[in-house]
Amino acid sequence: MRILSGIQPSGSLHLGNYFAMMKRMIEYQENHELFCFIVNYHALTSVFDAEKLKKQTFEAICDFLALGIDPDKSYFYVQSDIPEVTELTWILSNVTPMGLLERGHSYKDKKAKGVPANHGLFAYPVLMAADILMYGANLVPVGKDQKQHVEMTRDIALKFNQIYGETFVIPQPDIPKNVAVIPGIDGQKMSKTYGNTIDIFAPKNELKKKVMSIVTDATPIEEPKNPDKCNLFAIYSLFLSKDEQKLLRERYLKPGLKYSDIKKELLEAIWKYFEPYREKRESLINDRQEVKKIMQKGADKARQVASEYLNKARKNVGINY
Ligand code: TRP
Repeated sequence: MRILSGIQPSGSLHLGNYFAMMKRMIEYQENHELFCFIVNYHALTSVFDAEKLKKQTFEAICDFLALGIDPDKSYFYVQSDIPEVTELTWILSNVTPMGLLERGHSYKDKKAKGVPANHGLFAYPVLMAADILMYGANLVPVGKDQKQHVEMTRDIALKFNQIYGETFVIPQPDIPKNVAVIPGIDGQKMSKTYGNTIDIFAPKNELKKKVMSIVTDATPIEEPKNPDKCNLFAIYSLFLSKDEQKLLRERYLKPGLKYSDIKKELLEAIWKYFEPYREKRESLINDRQEVKKIMQKGADKARQVASEYLNKARKNVGINY
């Protein structure tokens, strides 16, 4: 089975990225054909600063490598290193109904949050469809917010196949229940756009600031708390086994729990969890040449699969005369 997903370098990578996508991808590479990439073309819809985009792309690569993506076991690459994806985007655009894109939650949300509504933002799902279809992916691990985009990809692929004959694999979204939505420090979905992230490799003082500002309710200490409505509980649970989650739940249900104590524990849990990867990340960040070499190899490997599907699409629409 071919599994594929991409991540936007629109900011430092955070716990939401890690639990919804990165961790699962790193696990999948052991038993599946895995395509994992940094979607810098997509990030152009929200990052309008070249230096920032370059830095964030490079850091996202280093984060992934440090956390365990293995370029020998997987296809690991930067989206723009295979610029042919923009050609497929154009081809797909012509079977993508306006109405489909107009119904996009993500587009409507971002517009409402003040992201400029340009054509790139509107056509974002078509580029994402090209990302997926160009590599013949069967399964796409994403957070719940991206489910609609994968459904749009299916619609686009089905329409294309119907008009031009069997060309693309129809992919499925892969959204596990327990990590479907990872809340940020304010309780909304953790997202760079909302400024509510806890970053994976933030320095400890910054991490502390973020964890301490996780919003909790005003239940007095001497009253029981509701773990199921608590943002702090949801975030902490990501770092706990089922049994540990049960114990934490019991502490919530008994009077006397102080949210600030839980926050201190969570801070240590996060720090300890990512500790083993910090050194590797640092050394990669300081070895740009080596990282570039790795990515070049990744792009060469990915391009072979990409060109197979792109050539088929070109041929089937009649672009090659
Ligand atoms: N839109 C995805 C997100 O923001 C990123 C993405 C781009 C992606 N292309 C993809 C995810 C292809 C899966 C497959 O999370």
